[in-house]
Amino acid sequence: MIENFSLRLTNWYNYNKRALPWRETNDSYAIWLSEVILQQTRVDQGMAYYQRFLSLWPTVVSLASASEQEVLLQWQGLGYYSRARNLLHTARLVVEQHQGHFPDSYEELIKLKGIGPYTAAAIASIAFNKPHAVVDGNVQRVLSRLFGVTEPIDSPQGKKAVESIALQAIQGVDPATHNQAMMEFGALQCVPKSPDCHHCVFKNQCFAFSKGKVADLPLKTKKTKVVTRFFNYFIAIWHQQSHTFTAIQQRLESDIWKGLFEFPLIETSQEVEFEELIQSDDFNQIFDKQTFTLVRRSEVHKHQLTHRRIMARFYHLHFEQPPVFLDEKNVFLIVDNDFSIYPLPRLIDRYLQQNV
Ligand code: ADE
Repeated sequence: MIENFSLRLTNWYNYNKRALPWRETNDSYAIWLSEVILQQTRVDQGMAYYQRFLSLWPTVVSLASASEQEVLLQWQGLGYYSRARNLLHTARLVVEQHQGHFPDSYEELIKLKGIGPYTAAAIASIAFNKPHAVVDGNVQRVLSRLFGVTEPIDSPQGKKAVESIALQAIQGVDPATHNQAMMEFGALQCVPKSPDCHHCVFKNQCFAFSKGKVADLPLKTKKTKVVTRFFNYFIAIWHQQSHTFTAIQQRLESDIWKGLFEFPLIETSQEVEFEELIQSDDFNQIFDKQTFTLVRRSEVHKHQLTHRRIMARFYHLHFEQPPVFLDEKNVFLIVDNDFSIYPLPRLIDRYLQQNV
C-alpha cells in the first residue's frame, strides 16, 4: 500500500484540490506566512489574513520593518499571539542574517523562532522541493487511520510510527505536491467527524475502515487540562473638554495575550464581589483611592481558549477627575472610543462592539 500510496493520493488531489493562493507561488516568504497562519486557523478564515498580510507587507524586508503593534493588530482575532511576535522576530532575523532570503534547508529553517518541525518541513518541501514530510494533526489522523497506527498519537511511540510512515510515503515523489495533497486529503476527505468513507479512494486499503475503527483513530491519551481564570475588568471613563477618555493597558507579562491591550483588571482565582475588589490593595494601586461611580456591571462573559477558560466581568466606572495611574508605563488613553490602532484580544473586541 505504501508503494503506490502517493500516486493514488496525488491523483485524488489533482481532481479535488482547492485553488488556494499560496499554491500559486514558490516564494518562501509567502509560503512561510501561509503555513504560520494556517497552523492557527482554517483555510477559509486564513485566506483573508494571508492576503491582508501580503498586501501590507509583500516581502520579508517590508514585514521586518513593521512594528510589533502593527503585526499584532493584523493578527487580531487569530489567537495565540506569540505566533505573531515570532513572525516579526523571524522576519527581522532573515533580513539581518540571511540577506532577506529564507534558508533552503530543513536544518537551517528549524533554527528560526516559531518554525518547528511542521513549518520547516512545509517550507523545505513546498518552496525548495526537499523531501521532508509534513506531520500535523491532519496528517496524523490520515496516516493513523489508513495504516493502522493504534498507539496514541500523543505518545512517543505513536508519534514515531506516524513520522516513519510519512517519511516512507514521500520517497521518490514530488515533495511539494505530495505534502499539499496530504493536507488537502485531511482537510476535505479524511475529516475528524463522520468522513464519507464510502467515497474514498482508499476505501479498499484503509485499516480503520476495514476494522470499523474510523471514529476511534487517531487515539489520544491526554485530555487537555483547562484552567479557569477570572478577569475583573474596569472600564474607567471620564469626560474632559467634550471628549471621552478611556484607560487601557498593555499586557506585558509572559502570559496569554502578551503585547495586546485590555482594560485595567484584577485577576482572581474565583468569582469576587465588587465591594471586595474595590477594597483590595490591587484596586487601590490601580486607581489610587479616587472617587468614581459604578455605572454598569456586565454579565460574566465566558471566553474559551485551548488551555484556559476566561470568565470576565466588566465594571464601567465614571470618574469626575482623570484618575491618576500609579503605574503609568503601560497605560494608554483612548479618546472618544477610537480603539483602532490597538490590537485587542477577541474577548475585549467583542465586548466593545456589543457594549460601548
Ligand atoms: N493547512 C496547513 N497548510 C496548508 C496548506 N498549505 N494548504 C491547505 N491547508 C493547509
